[in-house]
Amino acid sequence: MRKKLIAGNWKMNGGLAANQALVQSLLAGLAALRCDVAICAPAPYLAQLQGLLDHSSIFLGAQDVSAHDSGAYTGEVSVTMLREFGVRYAIVGHSERRQYHGESDVVVAAKAQRALAGGVKPIVCVGETLAEREAGKTEEVVKRQLAAVIHTNGHCISEIVVAYEPVWAIGTGKTASPEQAQQVHAVLRAQLKAASAHPERTLILYGGSMNAANAAQLLAQPDIDGGLIGGASLKAADFLTIIAAAG
Ligand code: PGA
Repeated sequence: MRKKLIAGNWKMNGGLAANQALVQSLLAGLAALRCDVAICAPAPYLAQLQGLLDHSSIFLGAQDVSAHDSGAYTGEVSVTMLREFGVRYAIVGHSERRQYHGESDVVVAAKAQRALAGGVKPIVCVGETLAEREAGKTEEVVKRQLAAVIHTNGHCISEIVVAYEPVWAIGTGKTASPEQAQQVHAVLRAQLKAASAHPERTLILYGGSMNAANAAQLLAQPDIDGGLIGGASLKAADFLTIIAAAG
């Protein structure tokens, strides 16, 4: 049985005072955990979050990682740097990075590889746009995106976390139905099975307008092993309800 993971993706939100208040409310409201919980914070706040989460049961995550080790890559953050702040997870290939920063499947695969080599678990995001879904290309798109990561990461592939995030559901309030999500998760699970010696280890999260009201139904699906939560992770009460739903 895989232990579920609920990961908050704060995106480009927060501030020193707001982060402190949010984390304090979360820690105060956290009951005994039966799932893993992580917060993926903006890079400048990793040091603050490391302090706030010290001795807590919430893991720290980053929202991106460089495909390079060190050197002349202005603005990028290496996995070694992330490790210095106790980071355990790094989101890679979020659709916002693919869309606004032109990250290709090859770049995403290289980032996942670098993260794994540096001891940080990549949360690899895959997902189709609305046009792709309407054209009947959902499976083709997510399989292509995951295949690139499998190709580059070979036998380490069971150590990644996958997040299925339909682009049309992100931040839109339109969630995939539990059946729609499960269908894609089953496809990804089969793809991992064919590629990995330990496919049972790999978590496949759902992301895209998961909230306090719909989390339980999504998380009840056999191949949904947790959630990557954007908007609802910024409200302590909502995030706590989602965490409880995973228990
Ligand atoms: P959302 O974002 O929960 O606000 O839809 C999810 C994500 O982009 O990871």
